[in-house]
Amino acid sequence: MNAPSLGFAVTPLTPVIGGVVTGLDLSRPLSEAVIARLTATVAERHVLFFEGQTLDPAAHRRFAARFGKLHVHPVYPHVDDIPEITSIETRPGDLPDNDNWHTDVTFIETPPFGAVLTPRTLPSSGGDTLWGSNVAAYRALSAPLRGLLDKLTAEHSFETGFPRSRWGAGPRKEKWEKAVAPNPPVVHPVVRTIEGGQRGLFVNSGFTARILELTEKESDALLAFLFAHLAKPEFTVRWHWKLSDVAFLGQSAQHSLRDARLPARDSRDAPRRHPRRQASLGPATSSILPSLRPSRCSIEGEKQ
Ligand SMILES: [Fe+2]
Repeated sequence: MNAPSLGFAVTPLTPVIGGVVTGLDLSRPLSEAVIARLTATVAERHVLFFEGQTLDPAAHRRFAARFGKLHVHPVYPHVDDIPEITSIETRPGDLPDNDNWHTDVTFIETPPFGAVLTPRTLPSSGGDTLWGSNVAAYRALSAPLRGLLDKLTAEHSFETGFPRSRWGAGPRKEKWEKAVAPNPPVVHPVVRTIEGGQRGLFVNSGFTARILELTEKESDALLAFLFAHLAKPEFTVRWHWKLSDVAFLGQSAQHSLRDARLPARDSRDAPRRHPRRQASLGPATSSILPSLRPSRCSIEGEKQ
């Protein structure tokens, strides 16, 4: 996993997920060989952490774009002049956001390969993110259950993650309504193959609405089981953020933001009003990210 010839090392955080990368300054140009090795490493470890970084928004976008075309989120606010970097924040009076276990943007046919995150403001306590390995969770299931799941497909829905009752009202209504029509429900396999041939579960409580081949009650029961299974501590790692941290998240991981409510907004927040920036890596060409191809050929148009 370490790459001394490329100038960096990776220290695993648990046996199945997470790695701390040392030796790289993400604000500086990185070679193709480094990018290729990081792509392979995030597939192995599912989430990588880089400490002591200084990424301004331009450098943040530049680093993320080395891995593929960048996705623009249809509803989240973005950093000034950089639509590819979303800003996620929760203040007193806001409903919790991103606190459920989810994989980003699975409501489109070609979900992102990964995401690059960095905090801009931290609460005085809390604000950790939990990350879970879909691959480890799949491997821990019995062979008969894996065999059943391998044959199933599931619907993923924008409205499941961004329900009209919450997002389709108030100041965000116009943006939400523009996002609904171009994002109808899509179908993904319940299990998919990622980079390096690993197989992992591909359902998440954020966007997966139902398993198509089952009755409604069967689907509800199986999804409830899988969501609880995916969140088991043995498949997860917890990261306590520092402002100089950067996380590189692969699609083989789920994540959940914990207790991330910031202080009430006031005028002093103006210079740092993007508490957590995220640049999701959008659909990329298969020559760059071959692992993003569908694991089932019946899913048309799937890239990641
Ligand atoms: Fe997320």
